[in-house]
Amino acid sequence: MSNNGPLVQEFERRLTEFLGVKHCVAMCNGTIALEIATRALELQGEVIVPSYTFIATAHALQWQEITPVFADIDPHTHNLDPEAVRRMITPRTTGILGVHLWGRACPVAALQAVAEEYRLKLLFDASHAFGYTYGGVPIGTFGECAVFSFHATKFFNTFEGGAVGHR
Ligand SMILES: Cc1ncc(COP(=O)(O)O)c(C=O)c1O
Repeated sequence: MSNNGPLVQEFERRLTEFLGVKHCVAMCNGTIALEIATRALELQGEVIVPSYTFIATAHALQWQEITPVFADIDPHTHNLDPEAVRRMITPRTTGILGVHLWGRACPVAALQAVAEEYRLKLLFDASHAFGYTYGGVPIGTFGECAVFSFHATKFFNTFEGGAVGHR
């Protein structure tokens, strides 16, 4: 976002408050936010993503030369199935990228358990989930970080925009 001027700083401060996270950095869109989060977490090799999401979830990884590995989803929720994630883990896996599709939280606790068991980094694509919660807790506080999109198609939009939130 342009030059870190006073309006950007106010925007980030208000996002932090609204999203209930400790830190929030505004970005030019959700795709770049995913790429920067991926780089910041030093992910490499393979990262597991849901087989049903917007293509940017996978593109952001591919552009960092990370292989997106597609795990099955739960047909009832359209979100990642944690057991399917477990089946896709290989020695090259470094992370899990959960997506809160349609604003419905993916199974955060079960994914956290898998990530801890295999020592994988867990982050979330919360592009659809601005202002949502999981178990009453703001969605952006789970995992290493959560990425939001403010594209014109989203509930809250800046025409183009995005952010990374961190608990
Ligand atoms: C699930 C999901 N991830 C990532 C993105 C990418 O966001 P943006 O369009 O802001 O780059 C979108 C946006 O449309 C999305 O729906």
